[in-house]
Amino acid sequence: FLDAGNGTALTGKRVVITAGPTREPIDPVRYISNHSSGKMGYALANAARAAGAHVVLISGPVTLPAPAGVEVRRVLTAEDMLREASGAVDEGCDLFIATAAVADYRPEKCAGDKIKKSSDTMSLSLVRNPDTLATIAGRTDAPFTVGFAAETTDVERYATDKMQRKKLNMIVANDVAAPGLGFNSENNAVTVFWPDGHESIGPDSKTNIARRLVAMIGDHLNQQDP
Ligand code: CTP
Ligand code: CA
Repeated sequence: FLDAGNGTALTGKRVVITAGPTREPIDPVRYISNHSSGKMGYALANAARAAGAHVVLISGPVTLPAPAGVEVRRVLTAEDMLREASGAVDEGCDLFIATAAVADYRPEKCAGDKIKKSSDTMSLSLVRNPDTLATIAGRTDAPFTVGFAAETTDVERYATDKMQRKKLNMIVANDVAAPGLGFNSENNAVTVFWPDGHESIGPDSKTNIARRLVAMIGDHLNQQDP
């Protein structure tokens, strides 16, 4: 039996992927979130599985079906995402890919009852969320780590800064200001950076981008750790 041509780039590797948005509660009926659909992370989980990996997908709330052969662990908040991702890495992980659009801030406290409207303006006090990717990449037993950077300006500079700051092996940058690409869309175009090189992929479907990304990540991972 022949596979779909996705190769054996990740045969036997344990891969943990974060995907989707997080949801930070304000009160029992409201939350802060973003437009991430989870499509890129789910497509990567599928492609990594097809390339021979054991895949754990840590997923925020999305409407996508669980990819066949992939273990999905559902989370809501950024704090849940850090806890589940750390637990999955503890179980053994060769490659960690963070595609999730994590809310950078959460309400300082979640009101116990629905907040009633009163004055014409209101403010919410927000606190910084933990960074799952930086935490995993900073471990002494860190796996090969790949981050994503969604930027609207100065894509290359911001993406390579993030790679250095978070101590990543690779970063996948996408320009979310490009019309019809990126967030919540079927198609994407990305540039992958590593410490001494870069390569662009697309525009193409997220499925095809995911296949090419898995092949490229597999090459770098296997060069470093054959
Ligand atoms: N990330 C994460 N946990 C966070 C924030 C981000 O794991 N709390 C991961 C994302 O999944 C992505 C990478 O870090 O792989 C970059 O996310 P991004 O939002 O672009 O970067 P930030 O460091 O949050 O910087 P900013 O939003 O200010 O540009
Ligand atoms: Ca962010």
